[in-house]
Amino acid sequence: MGATQISSISSLWSVKSNHTQRPISPIEANQRRFLPMASTVGVEHTSESKQRLTGDKFIRPHLRKLSPYQPILPFEVLSTRLGRKPEDIIKLDANENPYGPPPEVFEALGSMKFPYIYPDPESRRLRAALSEDSGLEADHILAGCGADELIDLIMRCVLDPGDKIVDCPPTFTMYEFDAAVNAADVIKVPRKSDFSLNVELIADVVEKEKPKCIFLTSPNNPDGSIINDEDLLKILDLPVLVVLDEAYIEFSQIESRMKWVKKHENLIVLRTFSKRAGLAGLRVGYGAFPLSIIEYLWRAKQPYNVSVAAELSACAALQNPAYLEKVKDALVRERERLYLLLKGVPFLNPYPSHSNFILCGVKSGMDAKKLKEELAKMGVMIRHYDKKELKGYVRISVGMPEHTDILMDCLRRVC
Ligand SMILES: Cc1ncc(COP(=O)(O)O)c(C=O)c1O
Repeated sequence: MGATQISSISSLWSVKSNHTQRPISPIEANQRRFLPMASTVGVEHTSESKQRLTGDKFIRPHLRKLSPYQPILPFEVLSTRLGRKPEDIIKLDANENPYGPPPEVFEALGSMKFPYIYPDPESRRLRAALSEDSGLEADHILAGCGADELIDLIMRCVLDPGDKIVDCPPTFTMYEFDAAVNAADVIKVPRKSDFSLNVELIADVVEKEKPKCIFLTSPNNPDGSIINDEDLLKILDLPVLVVLDEAYIEFSQIESRMKWVKKHENLIVLRTFSKRAGLAGLRVGYGAFPLSIIEYLWRAKQPYNVSVAAELSACAALQNPAYLEKVKDALVRERERLYLLLKGVPFLNPYPSHSNFILCGVKSGMDAKKLKEELAKMGVMIRHYDKKELKGYVRISVGMPEHTDILMDCLRRVC
C-alpha cells in the first residue's frame, strides 16, 4: 500500500509522455499494441508466442464478475420507447416525488452566479441549514451526491476486501451492489414474512460471522415497514457499525434518529433530498455521523462531491419548509387512498406502508412482469420484481391523485 516515488527518470522507459515525439501511423500503433510488456498484468499469450493486451485484464478480478446495477430507464429513453411524451407518462416506478421542489429552487438555479467556480468542498451553507432543520450540530453532518454516494463512501472507509456486511433482504439493493464493488462479502439475514427484521438471527450472525457493518432501512424499500426503537436499540448493542438509511423517513410518523449519533458511536443515519424535496435529479443526500467516524469520511470523500447547483437547490428547498410539509402531507394522504383502492383489485395484495410507495403481491393467476408490461403500454410505469424473495411482487410509487385515478383505470383494463 502507499505511494512509490520514482527518483531516477532513466529507469522509466514508457511512463512519461513526450509531446515532441513524431506522430505514429495507425499500423505502427497497432504493432505497438502487441509489444511485450514489462509486467504480466493485462497480457495474454497468443499461439505465435506474442503477448496480446486486452483492457479488461487491468480490471480488478472481483469487478470482472460484478453484475451491473439495474437502474430505471431515463425519462427521455422511456418516452422514445413508449412513443409518448414524458409528460404523458405516469412514472410510479422509482419513488420520485412528482410534486418536485418548491419554487425557491427554480429561482435559485435561474440566478446561479458562480457555476464556473468549484463548489464548497465542505458544503458549509447546506450543512448549516441541515443543522437547523434536524437539530443536530453541523459537525456531525456530511453531504453527498445523493445518499447513494454516502453508502459507497462509508463502505470505502470501513471495509477491507473480504470483510463482511449484513444485509436484510428484501431491501434496497444498493447495499449489496456497493459491497460487491468494494470486494466485501454479504451475509443475508432475510426479513420475516411480515418484512420485520429477524433481530435474533442478526445477533447470532454478528456473533459468529463478525461483520463490520449492517445496513438497515426505515422505512424499508420496497415494503415500507419501519424499525421500532426496541429492535434498533438491540442491534445498536451489538459490536457492529449500524448504517440506518432513512431515505423515506418524512413519510412515516416516526422522527429521524439523526440525533442518536451523539449517543451511539456505532450509528450512521442517512437521508436524502431526492424524496422529501423532489430533487432526485440534482443528487443531494446527507448523513449524520459520530464525530469519531465523520473525520475519516472527510478525508476520503471526493472534494467537490456536491455541485454548486445541488447545494444551491437543497438550501433553497429548506427555505420553504411549509411547501415540503404540504407535499409530504399530500403524498401520505394519497398513499392511504391508493392503499384502499389497491385492496379492491382482485389480483393485488397491497401491504400497509409508511413510505411513498406500496408493495403488492400479485395473485390470482396474474403475472407480475406481465402486469408491469401491460401498464407500461398504457403509459403507467411501475416496478416489478423477479428475484428470489420478491418474485411475483410489484411496487407502486405514490403519485398525485390524478396519477392514482389513471393507474386504477388501467388496472381495470388489464384484468
Ligand atoms: C432506501 C434508499 N436509500 C437511498 C436511496 C438513494 O437516495 P439518493 O437519491 O439520495 O441517492 C434510495 C433511492 O431510491 C432508497 O430507496
